[in-house]
Parts: sequence; structure tokens; C-alpha cells
Amino acid sequence: LETTVGGIPLPSCVYNASGPRTGASTALAKIAASKAGAVLTKSATIEKQTGNPQPRVWHSDDDIASMNSEGLPNSGIDYYLSKTTIDETMEGCTTTKPYLVSISGKTLADNLEMLDRIAKQINDGEKRIAGVELNLACPNVIGKPIIAYDFDQMRDILDTIAKKKYTFVLGLKLPPYLDSKHLQEAASIINEYSDMVRYVVCINTIGNALSIDPISEMPYISANNGLAGLSGPAAKFTALANVRQMRQQLKSEIDVIGVGGIQSGEDAFLFLLCGASAVQVGTCHWIEGPKCFDRIVDELQQILQKKGYSSASDCIGKL
Ligand code: DHB
Repeated sequence: LETTVGGIPLPSCVYNASGPRTGASTALAKIAASKAGAVLTKSATIEKQTGNPQPRVWHSDDDIASMNSEGLPNSGIDYYLSKTTIDETMEGCTTTKPYLVSISGKTLADNLEMLDRIAKQINDGEKRIAGVELNLACPNVIGKPIIAYDFDQMRDILDTIAKKKYTFVLGLKLPPYLDSKHLQEAASIINEYSDMVRYVVCINTIGNALSIDPISEMPYISANNGLAGLSGPAAKFTALANVRQMRQQLKSEIDVIGVGGIQSGEDAFLFLLCGASAVQVGTCHWIEGPKCFDRIVDELQQILQKKGYSSASDCIGKL
């Protein structure tokens, strides 16, 4: 199940999504010790923050749908870049797997500041930071539009970052596009920066969703008037369509990573067929815990074997 993401080798094509169980080294270490192919941190802001008030997460009784409006609780960028955090995270890891950092600044200036700190940390000798996932898709910052839905803003950000000529591997986390023409426009902007953007991750949660408790007659989630990002199996079909179309629209040198409702090896297989070079698991990791990685990897391996595929790359894009 080996693969590469933006040129980074991964021992398996299944790893964690940024978000649940990724905020602290204790949780990240469990991912590192599993069959997950990489370890990706919670999206960092410059300063640590506690996020929105509880309840900020909801799972439907049948686990088909989950919603969250966490408001980016995280330990701050310096925590995720520190040698101690990376040591603690990678301690029990028996294979060579990349440590990837997700960032989600509140402003362009914050994102640039965090990218500068990452570049500095790598220059200072911290070679274990293999790449950066820049989140252009957070739906839960109150009063802020999703960056990647505002194409002028998106171009502006990519243009500014391109001028910095960073040498680390950069990926973009994208929101779901619900209209093919919007997706094509996003892809054409990203294609202009194919020297810099090595991969995209599709999709973040489907924003602007609402779950309501019929007993209390209130939204389940307290922040943001109950409005939250939708994830879990309910998001899978939108995710598959976004991965498929991004693969068709993006230049071939930009990898696509699939995420959205994956909870089995079969789900992962469908994303590979759509052209994903790797897949991330978010909500299922939240609910099942880090043992989901071993299970999904084993299931995927069995499916490929049964179908006569000798590697993940043999089935990528075969839909
Ligand atoms: C949060 C949710 C997201 O979907 C995201 O991309 C970043 C942060 C959150 O609410 O914490």
C-alpha cells in the first residue's frame, strides 16, 4: 500500500485527517504507532486556543453523520514544531513515516508567519517535518468566509506564498465544491501554482449544516447558532465527486488526497479509483480511535489482493 504524496514516500496510503485526536503528542503517538502511513497534526494557529464552547461535536445515533464546530482548539504552532512534540509523537513508530503539520491562520499574515517558522525550524535542522497542509477550508471561524470559496482571496494567498519560495512540500486542504464550475475554477487557480502546490486534500467538512434535538428544540451544537461542518459517511459521495473531478482538472504533478466518510477498506478503495494517491480518515478515527488505521489498512490490502492489484498505485485513477 506504499504511495507518495507530493513526492513524500508513505509506507501506507491511509493516514489520519487533521482534526479529531490530533491536538496533542499523546494522541499523535498512537497514530504514529499504528499502520497509518503518516501523522498529520491538528490545524495550528499562532497562539494556542481552547476553541468554541461545548457541545461542539455531535454524532447521529447511527454514526452516518457527524457535525462539529470546534473553532480550532489547538496547542499553537510552536508546540507542533517543537522537537519534544515530534520526539514524543514518533517515539513508538517502527517505520519511516512523515510528520505533517496542518496550519489554519486567522489571517494571511498569520499563515505567512507560521510558514516562516516552519521554514526556520527545518533550516535549523528539524528534518522530520516532511510537509505542510495549509487549510483553506475551515468553516468554523465565526464571521470569516471559507478562503477557498473566495477565488480572489485564494489567488492572493497563493500568490503571496509563492513569492516566499519555500522549499518544503506544500499541500492545500480544500472545501467541498458543490458546483462543478466552481471546482474547475479552483483547480485552474491551483494549476497556476503547480511549482509550489504539490498536493490538494479533498474535502474538508461540508459547512453550514444544522442538527437539531427534538426534545430540547435546540441545535445540538452550541457555537455559531448550531451551524457546523458535516462529516462522516454522509459526506462520502460529495468527497468522491470532488476527488474525481480534481484529479481530472489538476495537472498530473499535483497529487490529490481523498478524505470524507471513509470507514472501511472498501471506502478507501473507492477513493483510490477516483484518483486519490492516499486517503485520510477523520470522523471514523474520532469514533473508533486509532485502531481504525490497522483495520482499514488490512481491509484495503485484502480487497486489492482479491482483485489482483499488486499495489495501491495499480488501482489509482482506474474508475
Ligand atoms: C475546525 C473545523 C474544520 O473543518 C477545520 O478545517 C478547521 C478547524 C474546527 O472547528 O476546529
